[in-house]
Amino acid sequence: MEKIAVITGASGGLGQALAKKLLREHWQLILVGRDAEKLNAIYGNAHAQIIADCSKASGAKHVFDEALSKNLIPTALAHCVGNIRLGAMHRMQESDFNDCMSANLFSAFHMLAAFINHLKQTSMAGSAVFVSSAAARIGTQNHEAIAAAKGGLEAMVRGAAATYASANIRINAVAPGILDTAASASILSSDIMRDMAAKQYPLKGIGNAEDVADLMAWLLSENATRVTGQVWSVDGGFSSIRPIVK
Ligand SMILES: NC(=O)c1ccc[n+]([C@@H]2O[C@H](COP(=O)([O-])OP(=O)(O)OC[C@H]3O[C@@H](n4cnc5c(N)ncnc54)[C@H](OP(=O)(O)O)[C@@H]3O)[C@@H](O)[C@H]2O)c1
Repeated sequence: MEKIAVITGASGGLGQALAKKLLREHWQLILVGRDAEKLNAIYGNAHAQIIADCSKASGAKHVFDEALSKNLIPTALAHCVGNIRLGAMHRMQESDFNDCMSANLFSAFHMLAAFINHLKQTSMAGSAVFVSSAAARIGTQNHEAIAAAKGGLEAMVRGAAATYASANIRINAVAPGILDTAASASILSSDIMRDMAAKQYPLKGIGNAEDVADLMAWLLSENATRVTGQVWSVDGGFSSIRPIVK
């Protein structure tokens, strides 16, 4: 049987790295984004492309309705949608907080609910992988909004993994530290800022999307059939090791 995966946030840095990785592992792809021109500029006419705002329940449902209408039955979901809104919470605008929750938490909830409905409708088992953040795992200055959103996402992963294990639906997440993608461009915009960011991590350097994509691909694969309800840190030791202060 063909292996078919939905990648949301397919226009983003991590979404693109994962698309490349899954292609090498012979998956057929359904790429989801909000902007048709952006997807087309990156992928041309390759792969099924679906335009949807998956931060809404209707948008998430549209992804799987559209896939079925193209005779595509995905059994894997990689949800790479998200943004980074930093700032001390007492100064954060309500609109920024809402954007953060919408992109990072609501989209994850709606996409997972729609994916599970799709699997039940088609009587398929499946696997989903989400993207949390190191900031949900350890207190990090000015990360209150993203920590709230990704902390909710991690709790959702465990809850849903419990509910759907008996249907053989596996649900996991990865939790990166800072990655060299568009979402963090403003934090890494100069050599000095890049050095400052790198110094926060026990392992040297800044993370790259390819490393995170490798783990996500493994979590979706048959090699991970006994893994569910887990959140895997890929953060250079940020959330679990105290760096030596020199
Ligand atoms: N970069 C980091 O340092 C870092 C660290 C930890 C965790 N993460 C997480 O990693 C994931 C991937 O991010 P990335 O680094 O690949 O960033 P990116 O390059 O900015 O990609 C983000 C993707 O999310 C989509 N998106 C943003 N807001 C959305 C919304 N409200 N509704 C639907 N789609 C939306 C964007 O689509 P459009 O093209 O339509 O805007 C884009 O495809 C995110 O969940 C992010 O929170 C990133």
